[in-house]
Amino acid sequence: MPSSEAALRAQGSETKVEVLPSQFYEDRLSTVARARKPSPIWDLFSVEFNPGILSMLAGKPHPDTFPFEYIQLGIRPPGSEPDDPSVRVQDLTIRDDELATALQYNVTPGIPELNQWMFKMMQEVHKRGPNEGWRVSIGPGSQDLLYKAFNAFLNPGDMVMVEGPTYPGATPILEALSCQYVPIDTDQDGIIASELAKILGNWDPSKPMPKILYTIPFGSNPSGVTASLERRVEILKLSKKYGFIILEDDPYYFLYYGDAPRPPSYFTLEKQVLGEVGRVLRFDSFSKVLSAGFRIGWLTGPERLLAAIECHSATSVVQASSLSQVVILKLLREWGVEGLVKHADKVAKFYKKRRDVMAACLDRHLKGLAEWSQPDAAMFYWLKLKLPSSVDLKSVTIEGDSTVFIRSKAIDRGVLVLPGATAFVDGRQTACVRVSFSLLTEKETDEAIRRLAEVLKEEIHSKSP
Ligand SMILES: Cc1ncc(COP(=O)(O)O)c(C=O)c1O
Repeated sequence: MPSSEAALRAQGSETKVEVLPSQFYEDRLSTVARARKPSPIWDLFSVEFNPGILSMLAGKPHPDTFPFEYIQLGIRPPGSEPDDPSVRVQDLTIRDDELATALQYNVTPGIPELNQWMFKMMQEVHKRGPNEGWRVSIGPGSQDLLYKAFNAFLNPGDMVMVEGPTYPGATPILEALSCQYVPIDTDQDGIIASELAKILGNWDPSKPMPKILYTIPFGSNPSGVTASLERRVEILKLSKKYGFIILEDDPYYFLYYGDAPRPPSYFTLEKQVLGEVGRVLRFDSFSKVLSAGFRIGWLTGPERLLAAIECHSATSVVQASSLSQVVILKLLREWGVEGLVKHADKVAKFYKKRRDVMAACLDRHLKGLAEWSQPDAAMFYWLKLKLPSSVDLKSVTIEGDSTVFIRSKAIDRGVLVLPGATAFVDGRQTACVRVSFSLLTEKETDEAIRRLAEVLKEEIHSKSP
């Protein structure tokens, strides 16, 4: 373990910390977010939970009008295999009060019991104390929470710092907000902190400083890169120096399978490194661990930021599905944090095996035709295809174009991967593609990569002088 990491681990959760004041966020929120008022109904809705209150507030439907009697769930124990005949599937039934909750409206931050469960889990997993100005808010998937967070920070023309490449699901949100991008190069250790320091150190004072840095620290989608501890520490120090907030989008936190110890999250580190908390807004998701269909993610971070995002949700989706929340709560009550972690470890091992299968197929078919690095988390390889480059009128070499190649050649040959241009916000042409290894069998993976190699060879051959 590197000595800096050992030193950080040695600092327990009892460290004294400063909590950033709410004004810090007020100055960074967008005009729309500051103008948003709590929805008049939903604002009072939480009062319904006060003991003894007789509420005639909301337009809640009467549960007797619903045709459901119970919902039966069959659950495998954490860490078990799906086809193992010796595994005892546990039956859980949702009925009576639980069923009524599952079929009813609830408060925007999530069903209180689930919200509290998540709050405790975040304390345990991320080693944070309960009285440090943060809480949890459950939402309908982290994609929705990201969308609302970008809206809560960015006015048209604002600067946003992103990894180059970044999550292809975030680029359309940022494009629609008409903001300006500062793409920061990444390497095998994540965002190159020295690049970030250079950009911010030479910032044109006539332009507003960027308010946020958006990063995917574990198994980044699409690059597959996991940020090293050292880089995380450097980035955090820069966030304090230049006053930006880190949006830590971490759906692959639990899907880490690298040989080195898992680096702590930014949310953990801000306390240990800066001794001051409130610079990190975390996005987590159950999609890759329990089910993508539940559409459940959660935000963790400063009260003011969560309130701004909840104000948005209260007037749009209102809340994440009560049914999904109750099913998850039922499971988590059975499993506890320990069971959840055991299950997640099993999921990580599953993807590690698939990563190794993909690695063998890449070696077999694409050696010399593409370049790649091995991911230590999540489910993506980022391949730089050796597509023929071109030279523009100013004699600048332009990378081959994977978008045209995939859309006009590869699809016809029965293989589909994501063109890399979708992961950049500056409209650049790129020869990179994102390849997911989550779903295909070993045989299918081999065939898919063989097809990609074949059509790539033809492309290279057809363009060679
Ligand atoms: C980096 C990243 N962020 C967010 C999401 C959205 O996840 P969710 O299903 O929780 O909306 C994904 C999904 O693939 C992702 O890869």
